[in-house]
Amino acid sequence: MIELVGLRKEFTTKAGVVTALDGIDLAVPDAAIHGIVGPSGAGKSTLIRCLTLLERPTAGEVKIDGEDLAALPQRQLRTQRHRIGMVFQHVNLFDSRTAEANVAYPLRVCGAPKRQAGARAHELLELVGLADRGRSYPAQLSGGQRQRVGIARALAAEPSVLLCDEPSSALDWATTRQILELIQRVNRTLGLTVLVITHEMAVVRQVCDSVSLLAEGRIVQSGPIGEMVTDYGSPLARELIPLAARPVGAAGAQLEVSFSSADFSVRDVLRLLTDLGPDTAIETGTLETLAGHRVGRFQIETAAAAVPRVIGQLEAAGLHVIAADQPKTQDDAVSRLPGPPPGPAVPRAAAGAVGGAGRPGGAPNPDGEGVAS
Ligand SMILES: Nc1ncnc2c1ncn2[C@@H]1O[C@H](COP(=O)(O)OP(=O)(O)OP(=O)(O)O)[C@@H](O)[C@H]1O
Ligand SMILES: [Mg+2]
Repeated sequence: MIELVGLRKEFTTKAGVVTALDGIDLAVPDAAIHGIVGPSGAGKSTLIRCLTLLERPTAGEVKIDGEDLAALPQRQLRTQRHRIGMVFQHVNLFDSRTAEANVAYPLRVCGAPKRQAGARAHELLELVGLADRGRSYPAQLSGGQRQRVGIARALAAEPSVLLCDEPSSALDWATTRQILELIQRVNRTLGLTVLVITHEMAVVRQVCDSVSLLAEGRIVQSGPIGEMVTDYGSPLARELIPLAARPVGAAGAQLEVSFSSADFSVRDVLRLLTDLGPDTAIETGTLETLAGHRVGRFQIETAAAAVPRVIGQLEAAGLHVIAADQPKTQDDAVSRLPGPPPGPAVPRAAAGAVGGAGRPGGAPNPDGEGVAS
């Protein structure tokens, strides 16, 4: 169990105090996989550094299995750190050691006899699917294989928590999928609690049970994936169910319609949307199944004069309707993921809309079913 209570981190710089974490409260239950997403500068890396106590929090508690690591003196902290395994974006292996020796290294440092450490390393390499590559050196392994060695090494000291900081951003999508499957397998077989920091919503879609959106050092939305995707119009719902690009040149009023197949059949919604009259057309849409919820999100264009009638008709049918590209509330508004930090003139928690496709540059979502008309 990971528990953060009122976690705060300030950095004192020549230009003044920078508040990187502004009171984070978060509880990740045992054996869950929790994602942390947020725009650049949101505080993700600081959060992970505070979790490992590489960075001392200014205030607050960092509890792993009930023990507040932030309150421990340095010497005790060193021995408690074995509870936390770390997987980084760029795995940092010793080039002059074999894969097996790299995995055995943390055990050797803790004084484990060579034979015992070697046997454990072999076991772990087997777990990550590299049983036959123990004698290979990092230069003889692919990027994905090196990341597997990194995961095996992170597991060597039998941690109860695995922290993954952008574990797949240096990998292609096929390899990313394999690494995520491995993280999921490790989570299920060893019962590890996993925290994944990522800027890729596709990573959250594939492995996370729950997710938090961080912006300007605060959690602005957090919860199980099923709840987030059905909180229609919220920043995380919009990121988790991204819309494919709509045709250029659409000039009318844009409305966004969301629903869950638990409440509506896709066929009925499509029939309703196509029967709204000649001045209304479906621009783009996505159907996605996440955490057992099949959620649909459509953007329709309609003549300005028809907006009240169209909204009335859709709402009367029980569908969720908002003006497209508008965040649900002013407070929910955060920058698109990933993206530059909001400009200094933008007030906190009102830093622009999250909307459109969630992958960089509007690239197709590998999991979603884009249905642009
Ligand atoms: N050592 C430091 N000294 C001063 N300010 C810092 C320090 N480390 C981080 N910050 C500031 O804290 C804020 C959060 O930074 P952090 O690196 O945690 O963001 P991030 O979410 O990881 O961003 P990215 O996605 O770009 O990696 C930023 O405003 C950053 O400039
Ligand atoms: Mg970072």
